[in-house]
Amino acid sequence: MSAAQIGLSMDAAAKASHSASVRIEHLNKSFGAVPALKDLSLNAASTEMLVLVGPSGCGKTTCLRCIAGLERPSAGRILIGQRTVTAIADGVFVPPEKRQIGMVFQSYAVWPHMTVFENVAYPLRAMGTPRSTIKPRVEEALRLVQLGHLPERYSSQLSGGQQQRVALARSLVAEPALILFDEPLSNLDANLRTQMRIEIKELQKKLGFTGVYVTHDQEEALAIGDRVAIMDHGLLRQVGTPREVYDHPANSFVAGFMGSTNLLHAQVSNCSGGAVTVEIPGGFSLRIEDTRAFTTGDKVIVSARPECLSLLSAGDGWPGVITFATFVGDVTIYRVRIGGHLLEVRAPANTSYEPGAAVSVKPDAQRCRLLRD
Ligand SMILES: Nc1ncnc2c1ncn2[C@@H]1O[C@H](COP(=O)(O)OP(=O)(O)O)[C@@H](O)[C@H]1O
Ligand SMILES: [Mg+2]
Repeated sequence: MSAAQIGLSMDAAAKASHSASVRIEHLNKSFGAVPALKDLSLNAASTEMLVLVGPSGCGKTTCLRCIAGLERPSAGRILIGQRTVTAIADGVFVPPEKRQIGMVFQSYAVWPHMTVFENVAYPLRAMGTPRSTIKPRVEEALRLVQLGHLPERYSSQLSGGQQQRVALARSLVAEPALILFDEPLSNLDANLRTQMRIEIKELQKKLGFTGVYVTHDQEEALAIGDRVAIMDHGLLRQVGTPREVYDHPANSFVAGFMGSTNLLHAQVSNCSGGAVTVEIPGGFSLRIEDTRAFTTGDKVIVSARPECLSLLSAGDGWPGVITFATFVGDVTIYRVRIGGHLLEVRAPANTSYEPGAAVSVKPDAQRCRLLRD
């Protein structure tokens, strides 16, 4: 049975053979004097959803366009499955239309003068798919994105969310082994965004394609990625599962970008028995579990997430004063001055400290992390 006959309803065994790994090796790309990618090496396993996240301008789109063949890197290699699609040193460059990749962009890029059906049928017609198989495959793709009831609607008559569903169906219909997403949800309002990221992840798991998904939104990255690659100024700063990069950030850039955190410069005063004692200027000390070898006097950075600090009216924590309080529904976020430091603390919503109140900040040392840079 051919892939076309199977349609989009594949069983688990078919998934692995139908999805392709991606290997990026030593990719460099400059635009004039501006380096956009610096020696980037990164893999996505078959059936994996890999998210590229980082601030605007860090090189996410450039990386995605290199994978798609829309951009020619200055150096490096890219493999999709076993196939080398870019190898600058060897003069290999497979054009985009021969890479069998699906793409979904922030600007939906659906054709307003075509119906929903025709938009989704377009890639199949371009591939010369027999007419008899186009209809069932388009219908199946529309059903998957919950647009089965709107095939005759013109795209110009759809909401932004519906247009993005059309774009998604169009990327799925040719059953590519790899789909690239560039900020597909950034134009949608917040509630729809959280709903659709779950749908995209469910579809990806169900159909088993490999995904490379670009976003600047750290929460979206954690929610959608099997693994998350954090980029900064064209460099890869860390790659790992959502839990790894959130709970064990490799550096202060990752700690600060993936969620919010308090970063405190400190000095090691003791390192023994799988834990490290650090002194924070102002007379605050903390003992953090860490099996790495530190030397007394080492300069380190303590990362203490706002949810890893708790507030007491008085007690054995660090004495401080509330400077600001914001109720955001599920929690109340406080700014607390302790010595020369201003800390952010997330406390239960039913706490109600006023600015000026004397409090005590108690860090959960188990959840604080030591960073070297
Ligand atoms: N076509 C281009 N011409 C010149 N500079 C570009 C071009 N595309 C991207 N850049 C630059 O390359 C860097 C990375 O851009 P981009 O990959 O779009 O970042 P991101 O998608 O992470 O926001 C930025 O400094 C950007 O200004
Ligand atoms: Mg971009």
